Amino acid sequence: RRDLLELQCLRPDEIQTLLDTAQTLKDLTGGGRNKLSLLSGKTCANLFFENSTRTRSSFSLAAKRLGADTLEFSSAGSSVAKGETFVDTAKTIQAMGVDWVVTRHNTPGTPQLLARELDCSVLNAGDGAHEHPTQGLLDMLTIRQHRGGLEGLTVALVGDIAHSRTARSNLWGLKKMGAHVIVCGPPTLVSPRWAEIGFEVAHSLDEILPRCDVLNLLRIQFERQQARYFPSVHEYAALYAMNADRMRRAKQDILIMAPGPINRGVEITPEVADGPHSVILEQVTNGIAVRMAALWLLAGAADRQGSRHGESEN
Ligand code: CP
Repeated sequence: RRDLLELQCLRPDEIQTLLDTAQTLKDLTGGGRNKLSLLSGKTCANLFFENSTRTRSSFSLAAKRLGADTLEFSSAGSSVAKGETFVDTAKTIQAMGVDWVVTRHNTPGTPQLLARELDCSVLNAGDGAHEHPTQGLLDMLTIRQHRGGLEGLTVALVGDIAHSRTARSNLWGLKKMGAHVIVCGPPTLVSPRWAEIGFEVAHSLDEILPRCDVLNLLRIQFERQQARYFPSVHEYAALYAMNADRMRRAKQDILIMAPGPINRGVEITPEVADGPHSVILEQVTNGIAVRMAALWLLAGAADRQGSRHGESEN
């Protein structure tokens, strides 16, 4: 493969290779802090049409840690304001000589569109509520580091499943790697269709809590709510926030995760977010490792395949 668009289409061995490579590169770079020159001479373009702190910064650092150059593009302040289209913008950036385009957009399917239009590799950094594959990978890497593997673990994704691309990438990735996945939240934010395709659906966090090895607490995406949010923030926190009381009823070695950013006091209280079971900042660190692995593996695939549209084959 030369693109990373979603985890739903990856085979378990491909996910395993990404995770193994991420761990190797993390170790080789001293936890992602030192530089290698594996990708020197190559350029990574970040095309972000939505805000980001973690994903954008860590893609940029990942490329630099492997010796590549980076090109940062934000739609704000660009010629998009003059009417330039998404595809024309991407082709313009590609014409500057880039090897990877990392894209984030609020419309599902935009990375797939670019993968058809561009010759370079395309990496999905989040497309609407569809997928966020590197987030799913870094979450799995973090769990694996603490538990030694993923098979047989019970992992609950709690909260705003309806609007969460992170949830989808976790769902597909964890299922392929043999974990038991529960989607938990109010019926307004958790569709029953997840049960039809093999996931456990729960509406009571208190009922499932004692058997969970990992909780991944998803942010309520207020910016994507179409109508007045229901239940209210106050009701949501009472039913689903991970707090000190719920921690007392959880497994003693439970891992508390969140993709970030977090709404403190809504999905998670500060004493849990900053407590000994929280691996939220480890997830951020692992984002560099996973993105180094994705860039490195896709560069190898692209070099083997040549131009996607065949221009350089002769
Ligand atoms: N988890 C995540 O995608 O964070 P950012 O929006 O800050 O990139």
